[in-house]
Amino acid sequence: MLSQEEREEIEAEIAHYPAKRAVCIDAMLIVQRHRGWVSDESLASLAQFLDMSTADLDGVATFYNLIRRKPVGRHVAMICDSVSCWIMGCDRIRDHVCFRLGVPMGATTDDGRFTLLPIVCLGACDHAPAMMVDGELHTDLDEQRIDAVLQRYE
Ligand code: FES
Repeated sequence: MLSQEEREEIEAEIAHYPAKRAVCIDAMLIVQRHRGWVSDESLASLAQFLDMSTADLDGVATFYNLIRRKPVGRHVAMICDSVSCWIMGCDRIRDHVCFRLGVPMGATTDDGRFTLLPIVCLGACDHAPAMMVDGELHTDLDEQRIDAVLQRYE
């Protein structure tokens, strides 16, 4: 069931469009911001609220890779593995982040602090390699910059 706050935020988005379903991605991001991820139960409630079938909304969630359908840690670090970052050594960056946090890509640290996920191009190719933590872009990464970035998120 959606919270009152979630409903109000989603309704504010709906006011800008002729059909409720037009805001389905924004609505899922609102739920995700409040809950960290979009569970099956949240998805079903949201689909009902948007006059969509759960299957249709799940299809959008599956297609859009910023919608998280599994629980995550308090912070989500997404490491770009597209071509410019690959050329600039994203493998080394990924290995260093995994080493520092002690988990492989796709996993969450035991203390629930970080989840590591791959992401396609973050649009910062001219400052590759890049990663995004909780929506904040970090570029020109090397081992020292990664250590400094990770320290900022407790
Ligand atoms: Fe990584 Fe574009 S390829 S930011």
